[in-house]
Amino acid sequence: MAKVRVLDKEFETSIPESAIQDAVRAVAEKINRDLEGKDPLFVCILNGAFMFAADLMKCVSIPCEISFVKVASYAGTSTTGKVKELIGFNENLDGRTVVLVEDIVDTGITIDMLRKQVSAKGAADVRVATMLYKPDSFRMDIKPEYIGLNIPNDFIVGHGLDYNGYGRNLKDIYTLIQ
Ligand code: IMP
Ligand code: MG
Repeated sequence: MAKVRVLDKEFETSIPESAIQDAVRAVAEKINRDLEGKDPLFVCILNGAFMFAADLMKCVSIPCEISFVKVASYAGTSTTGKVKELIGFNENLDGRTVVLVEDIVDTGITIDMLRKQVSAKGAADVRVATMLYKPDSFRMDIKPEYIGLNIPNDFIVGHGLDYNGYGRNLKDIYTLIQ
């Protein structure tokens, strides 16, 4: 397994890019079937989801729009439990089908907060598409509707995910060596 150093920590490959792409295609196919004729608005949650959103949108073939919000909750390798909104929603969400696009759902605090915001802005249907899901860490009621891959409760980097801002550019996903 390939090892990589990001700042002061060592990581090793856990999910190769090919497996990510297979999972992304499967998510997109399901969305194409479920949301045909619904004119969905995809909302990419920056920073981490930029790479997954780009991969996903290339496989979504139904008419749709994409927009971006920016939030932050992690410091180092763990969640602060608080979600800071850095860039908010600009568009009219009234009656829309909204798909929140996340890199990873961990405790679920981030998507829970955004689901509530989007519903409060009048969206008719709110769904979550996430590249990765940590089922053992999730503490909210509503699971993501679209999940690329389930992963154990370890800290990872790569394919958009960072450790203190670094490692987002790695193509594969790497797990922290304990
Ligand atoms: P949640 O609010 O606890 O579900 O955390 C979601 C956010 O925390 C994600 O959008 C990521 O930005 C970040 N995050 C969660 N787990 C990891 C990880 O293993 N590596 C890097 N970032 C993570
Ligand atoms: Mg994120």
